[in-house]
Amino acid sequence: MKQQLEQIRTTAIAEIAAADTSLEEIRIKYLGKKGALTAILRGMGSLTPEERPVIGAVANEVRNDIESALEKRGAELKKLSLARSLVEEKLDVTYDAIAPNAGHIHPITRALERMTEIFIDMGFSIVEGPEVETVGNNFDALNAPADHPSRDFQDTFYITESTLLRTQTSPVQIRAMRGMTPPIRIISPGRVYRSDVADASHSPMFHQLEGLVIDKGITMGDLKGILSKFAKTMFGPETKTRFRPHNFPFTEPSAEVDVSCFVCGGKGCRLCKNEGWMEILGAGMVHPEVLRAGGIDPDVYTGFAFGMGVERVAMVMSGIDDLRLMFENDARFLKQF
Ligand code: PHE
Repeated sequence: MKQQLEQIRTTAIAEIAAADTSLEEIRIKYLGKKGALTAILRGMGSLTPEERPVIGAVANEVRNDIESALEKRGAELKKLSLARSLVEEKLDVTYDAIAPNAGHIHPITRALERMTEIFIDMGFSIVEGPEVETVGNNFDALNAPADHPSRDFQDTFYITESTLLRTQTSPVQIRAMRGMTPPIRIISPGRVYRSDVADASHSPMFHQLEGLVIDKGITMGDLKGILSKFAKTMFGPETKTRFRPHNFPFTEPSAEVDVSCFVCGGKGCRLCKNEGWMEILGAGMVHPEVLRAGGIDPDVYTGFAFGMGVERVAMVMSGIDDLRLMFENDARFLKQF
């Protein structure tokens, strides 16, 4: 039995010294419940009382030797694997980093921010209104007759009989007039909705920038001055502004306003479709009925209003001829701006 124990010690220690990964298997093989050493200890019952302590001492010695061999080899293996990973997992700190994908401002937001900034510099303040509006503010108070085509279901997203998704930012004029006393000098940027099928120049949602100025003695001359100053700041100092007679229910007189093409300077090019001019807004003197609906006395005050298409301006600025590109959010497209 003593020989058997010596045998176990020798083979176990040799195995441990040669092991290069898991020592656990070896530990179980010799010291586990069903291990070789355990089996011998179980057989000690058949020994004489004199032999038992002698064999017991040897068995303990063998166990201790195996355990300390396991421990020693374990520490060695740990060192080896550390040394190996230090060599293999070298980090090259001089390697070019992968730049994180940074986002940027959408062309529409950028145009809107620039437009807003120019009016703020001219002393305007910002007033915002809700996108879900009353029919009263969006049409009635703005002097749109009951049979005005823009009120049609075909053109307007109604929510109920008396509420809708605003079709223009002009209802903010009414809110501003009712909530403020003149002088009023505000702009109102925001989303508007129309029941249009999306194509190169239509989208069911787009942005407008409304402007409203009310005070004693405001004239069409003030409107022209403000808008031509805006156009020069926005599109360049050579930019000319052109007013064409038009009709809106809420302004009288009304005009559509063009700016000279800032690419060709008015000669005609691809961007302005050879017109030399680009239409960017509708404007006019606030109709007396609208002032009245806003609680302002038209015999004391006059004012002007304008509504600018933000997408129009953004497309012109970035040379894009299809509105849909603005809303598809294709990163390859957006990255160009
Ligand atoms: N609300 C008009 C539109 O959507 C634009 C406009 C605003 C015209 C203010 C005149 C005055 O077309």
